[in-house]
Order: sequence, then structure tokens, then C-alpha cells
Amino acid sequence: MATILRDWSYRYQWLYDAIARLAAISVGGEARFRQLALQGLTIDSDTQVLDLCCGSGQATHFLVKYSQNVTGLDASPLSLQRARQNVPAASYVEAFAENMPFVDNLFDVVHTSAALHEMQPEQLQQILKEVYRVLKPGGVFVLVDFHAPTNPIFWPGVSLFLLLFETETAWQLLKTDLPRLLIETGFDVEQPTLYAGGSLQVIQAKK
Ligand SMILES: C[S@@+](CC[C@H](N)C(=O)[O-])C[C@H]1O[C@@H](n2cnc3c(N)ncnc32)[C@H](O)[C@@H]1O
Repeated sequence: MATILRDWSYRYQWLYDAIARLAAISVGGEARFRQLALQGLTIDSDTQVLDLCCGSGQATHFLVKYSQNVTGLDASPLSLQRARQNVPAASYVEAFAENMPFVDNLFDVVHTSAALHEMQPEQLQQILKEVYRVLKPGGVFVLVDFHAPTNPIFWPGVSLFLLLFETETAWQLLKTDLPRLLIETGFDVEQPTLYAGGSLQVIQAKK
């Protein structure tokens, strides 16, 4: 599925950012969207933060306001090139999330936004295991991603968005019980907080 718009949105950062800004209107704008996962977390200048699947640094930009120790990881060299220009205060690593080149117990916080819906089910499980491995005991994994709308009014908008920009994996995520997967990986998990008619979930999980 998906359309040429998906390729274009990855090729042209202005298009990706415009779409992200438009979608974020449903939660009160992009600044608020980027804060949702961080609510209740303590991040100070020494906190070791990983922005997993950081893209062009859209969330990294907000994370470096709290910590001087932010690392962005992404598999796309083009995205990382843009991230280095957009948010030079972070350091960056080109790698796959399912096989991270980090030692065990390194990060206090692993953050990921709008990325897990791109993963195949087995890949997703492997990524959760890797996140658990690289987090310090007591560290927190925070994620923001799609969720099946609980308010029916949001289904047409979400369906159109997924048809235009996403692939089958995003539809699969809507059917995935992420809290259960996280618990099976070993995390202590709070219930997801839902936004935008339930179409967006924020989960904080502790190692
Ligand atoms: C939709 S973008 C999200 C970017 C950013 N986190 C945001 O909130 O806008 C998804 C990103 O995940 C990256 N990605 C997809 N699969 C990956 C994988 N297996 N390992 C690392 N990065 C991956 C893509 O290169 C892309 O930059």
C-alpha cells in the first residue's frame, strides 16, 4: 500500500515536516506532540538519552533542550545527514534499531516517536529486546505511535493518512498490543495514554 507521497515525504524534508505539523494539530500542535512522551520524566543535563529512529532530528531537537547527552540513531544516512545539520548538539549513530552498537545498560531514557509502526512484527520484538538491553536498570523507554482510534470519528482521517503515507506495518501496529509485548520483554508498563480520539498512544515502560 502507500502512495508516491510516502517516497516524496522521505525525499523532501519540508514535505515530511509539513505533514507532521498537520497531523500534530489533532493534539494541539507539534510542540505539544513532542512533549507528550516526556511528561513526568526527569531529564537533566547528564541524562543519557537515545532518540531511536531519530529521522531528521524532529524529536531530537526537543530532547537536546533537556540533556547534553543525546544520541540519535537511525538506519538512513540521508536522515542522519539532515539531523546533524538540524540538531548539531546531539551525536548520531547509523545503525539498525534491532542491532544497536551500544554496550548493555548505557541509557537512562530511550525515546522513539512515529517509528515503531514501520517495523515488521519480528523486527518489533527484536527492537524491544534491544531497547531493554541498552537501558540502565530503572531506565525508561518512552514511545509515541499510532493506536486504533477509540473514537469512531477519527477512523476516516487515520485510514486516509495510513493509505497515503504508510505501509502494511502501520495497519499491523493498530492491532498490536504493545503493552503486552513490552511486559513480555521484561518491562514494567503503565497503561498507554491515548490522544486524538485514541489514534495516538504514548507508553512509558521501565526496565
Ligand atoms: C517516520 S520517521 C520518524 C522520525 C522521527 N522520529 C519523528 O518523530 O518524526 C521513521 C524513521 O525510522 C527510521 N527507521 C526505520 N526502520 C529503522 C530501523 N530498523 N532501524 C533504525 N531506523 C529505522 C527511518 O529511517 C526513519 O528515519
